[in-house]
Amino acid sequence: DYHGTNVEGNEDLLDDKMTENESSTTLTNRQGHPITDNQNVRTVGNRGPTTLENYNFLEKISHFDRERVPERVVHGRGAGAHGYFEAYGSFGDEPISKYTRAKLFQEKGKKTPVFVRFSTVTHGTHSPETLRDPRGFAIKFYTEDGNWDLVGNNLKIFFIRDAVKFPDLIHAFKPDPVTNVQDGERIFDFISQTPEATHMITFLFSPWGIPANYRQMQGSGVNTYRWVNSEGKAVLVKYHFEPVQGIKNLTQEEAQEIQGKNFNHATQDLYEAIEEGNYPEWEMYVQIMEDHDHPELDFDPLDDTKLWYKDKFPWVPVGKLVLDRNPEDYFAEVEQAAFGTGVLVDGLDFSDDKMLQGRTFSYSDTQRYRVGANYLQLPINAPKKHVATNQRGGQMEYRVDTGKGQNPHVNYEPSIMNGLNEAPKKYPEHTPYVEGEVKKEAIDRPNNFGQAGETYRRLNDWERDELIKNLVNTLGTCKKEIQNQMIENFTKADPDYGQRVAEGLKNYEQNMSNGPIGSTTSDEGVEQAKEESRA
Ligand code: HEM
Repeated sequence: DYHGTNVEGNEDLLDDKMTENESSTTLTNRQGHPITDNQNVRTVGNRGPTTLENYNFLEKISHFDRERVPERVVHGRGAGAHGYFEAYGSFGDEPISKYTRAKLFQEKGKKTPVFVRFSTVTHGTHSPETLRDPRGFAIKFYTEDGNWDLVGNNLKIFFIRDAVKFPDLIHAFKPDPVTNVQDGERIFDFISQTPEATHMITFLFSPWGIPANYRQMQGSGVNTYRWVNSEGKAVLVKYHFEPVQGIKNLTQEEAQEIQGKNFNHATQDLYEAIEEGNYPEWEMYVQIMEDHDHPELDFDPLDDTKLWYKDKFPWVPVGKLVLDRNPEDYFAEVEQAAFGTGVLVDGLDFSDDKMLQGRTFSYSDTQRYRVGANYLQLPINAPKKHVATNQRGGQMEYRVDTGKGQNPHVNYEPSIMNGLNEAPKKYPEHTPYVEGEVKKEAIDRPNNFGQAGETYRRLNDWERDELIKNLVNTLGTCKKEIQNQMIENFTKADPDYGQRVAEGLKNYEQNMSNGPIGSTTSDEGVEQAKEESRA
């Protein structure tokens, strides 16, 4: 039987049985037919017209016509690599089991395979990697209990704290729906009316908004999660990754210099480092807090616009992350990779962080649309362990998740005819008690500016200078009302911050009235261009 059609797996499709005119590098179509002419379409005479029954031509072109799937609505541009996570097995001086029963952390030296995808957020699949933008840092841990996805960013906080605002935030940063050009005025129109974004904007417009590459940046889970131990007791946690390579960020000028020569520099840097055996590595840290609302703090521990300062909530190392293998195929592994905040394993849990809960709906929802209903069957997304479900059908199902001992006729539960059964519960569940009125209301301790001011003061001098310059250059193009609202917000964060932006904007305006600054077309340039077009 030459054409394998076994739905159990694709072993038969990869079969290397050959006909007498084939070798292992003979071109075939997807039906296994050897291609004897890949240069000429089939025509009436050698000048055409072309005949329509030419199956090989139709197959080649129509597959090409479908080579793209919708790109991610955010984080479209990315690069990925395989590697492993190695656990330290402890939490400071304590056994880590005191806080979490998640198996991947328990034993010193235990390795769990991972796939990591880094990304930029705003622009499309082939946009420059030098843009001022948060960077995505998404990790898929293929644990023995199934997959755990930690979908994080390089920066440790976010612009907003309520998921309902996410589409608005992204629309403001994406290109204008009419001109298709990104517009600083649209961005700051939204940001100036969103005071909780002041902290994130302070990081983003400083050099921290342009990491030099993917290897020399931090990672953070951003949102607050929970760890659960074997008694069902929980703590609040935040995750962070510190690059062993060190942190490196770029000034706007440095970024422009790189972008003029190479708009794929971060993807290339990651790929080449791994090919050379220079494996990037991060140490993983966890911060914990007792699981309650912490009235003693001036912020809410579930508010993702806030840092948990290290002096109060130390970063405790729990393991290391190493990337040591490049993907074999970008599309199959990086483009089709699907991460989501809902993908947790036993011992890890959500918190009531409103952003996290909104995100958890969004990821798998978009992936069913972007990749397809059976996206979890793709090798990059499938767990590396036993999978047995009663889910059947859907576009592109290529195998059936039947358990080895399962009666294949029984795709429902319960059954007494040898169907699938629930797993026995091994540990008590974490069962938080919640009570309250159901309503739409902002949190009590927004403190929108306190940490923004602190971050401003903690920057190095050159970083603060860059921050002011970058803000002024973008705010300079905005309406006066937007500028004034931003100055007011920065002043609330730190009076010096507001004053420096205000002064910068005054100078910007004066320079503009003396002729546009940053204009690159000198008369000489125009003359030269004409010269070239005549040549
Ligand atoms: C990607 C939604 C906030 C990090 C995505 C995608 C969606 C999304 C729809 C595309 C996923 C795909 O096509 O596979 C949201 C919503 C948010 C939110 C609704 C807020 C309510 C955040 C935050 C972070 C983050 C706070 C940082 C911790 C990422 C990353 C990716 C991503 C890293 C790319 C994952 C990959 O490499 O495939 N987000 N997001 N997002 N998001 Fe979010």
